[in-house]
Amino acid sequence: MDLLLAGQSPPILGVGLIGSGSAQAAQVISNDQLSQRVDTNDEWIRTRTGIGRRRVSTPGQSLVDLAAEAGRSALTMAGRSPQDLDLILLATSTPDDLFGSAPRVQAELGATNAVAFDLTAACSGFLFAVVTAAQYLRTGAMRRALVIGADQLSRFVDWDDRRSCVLFGDGAGAVLLETTHQDGLLGFQLQSDGSRGAVLNLPAVDISAPLVDGAEHRAGGYRPIEMNGQEVYKFAVREVPAVLQSLLKRCDVSPDQLDWLLLHQANQRILDAVADRLSLPRTKVLSNLSSYGNTSAATIPLMLDEAVRDGRIRSGDLLASSGFGAGLSWGAALLRWQGPA
Ligand code: COA
Repeated sequence: MDLLLAGQSPPILGVGLIGSGSAQAAQVISNDQLSQRVDTNDEWIRTRTGIGRRRVSTPGQSLVDLAAEAGRSALTMAGRSPQDLDLILLATSTPDDLFGSAPRVQAELGATNAVAFDLTAACSGFLFAVVTAAQYLRTGAMRRALVIGADQLSRFVDWDDRRSCVLFGDGAGAVLLETTHQDGLLGFQLQSDGSRGAVLNLPAVDISAPLVDGAEHRAGGYRPIEMNGQEVYKFAVREVPAVLQSLLKRCDVSPDQLDWLLLHQANQRILDAVADRLSLPRTKVLSNLSSYGNTSAATIPLMLDEAVRDGRIRSGDLLASSGFGAGLSWGAALLRWQGPA
């Protein structure tokens, strides 16, 4: 999918980002606690990743619980009611139900006028979902969309694999989009490359089971996350600056015009490398990795919500955002935060 610039055909209506929300998993697990389980230590994890702790859901806390709480809080900030929603898009790779968890979120919220469905693009999912929702709004087909990024990778992490388990956590974040005169999605560029996808997977089990005489079926279930950390790292530090630079150029925006860089929170070293490549001061790079680790589709809206609520991001601020991860998938969007009226 290629770039769409505001002001070029076919945008009809602007898309405003008018509210944000987030929800956190109940348990805090520190690096020191993880070292009880695998051969690691706080210093290694902090130095290599910037992560100090992560949040992990309790067995009683569902993905739908997290997603609904984040969505509710975005609605409250925006001053809109659940019945005002036309669309709920849930970006997740870890639904409670493989048939889709968005309709359960819709029911929890009481958003009786909204159609709701899941979208899966791993850690790029939230950005892909914002762009997808915006298309419904631009055409006038819908007026308001709640975009939620929520993941519980703790269910699929191999907690005995120190190379990956230290990176991930659970969480949810949400943004409310509404048609407005001032456009908040100034451009985007989304990319996929399945030929390189083997470096990061949450694969289905590959087991045959007997069905009837002479026939077998493929058994259900998934294996834990499999990751080649160094290859994923190289992918991120090559592709993320490239997609951001391409987007900014096509939007005729220079990096120094940005108020914030809002990247998928995977590793502090990746955030720093991208900022350096764009010649952006580290003070403009939003990071909450130390508290949450990588919460997959939730990182970008979780970070956005935190910075909106503590006053760092203000109405009118210009943000360059980039998501990247399994697929491989990656992308960037140029956003202007509007906030509630
Ligand atoms: N604690 C202590 N030691 C660890 C460790 C841990 N948690 N994980 C790995 N090590 C060890 C390795 O076994 C290796 O030891 P060896 O040299 O004796 O074999 C050593 O540390 C270096 O491992 P390496 O894999 O080269 O480290 P790295 O500098 O590449 O850092 C990652 C590993 C995973 C932190 C890094 O590659 C990374 O962040 N990649 C991107 C992953 C990511 O973001 N995934 C999600 C994308 S959406």
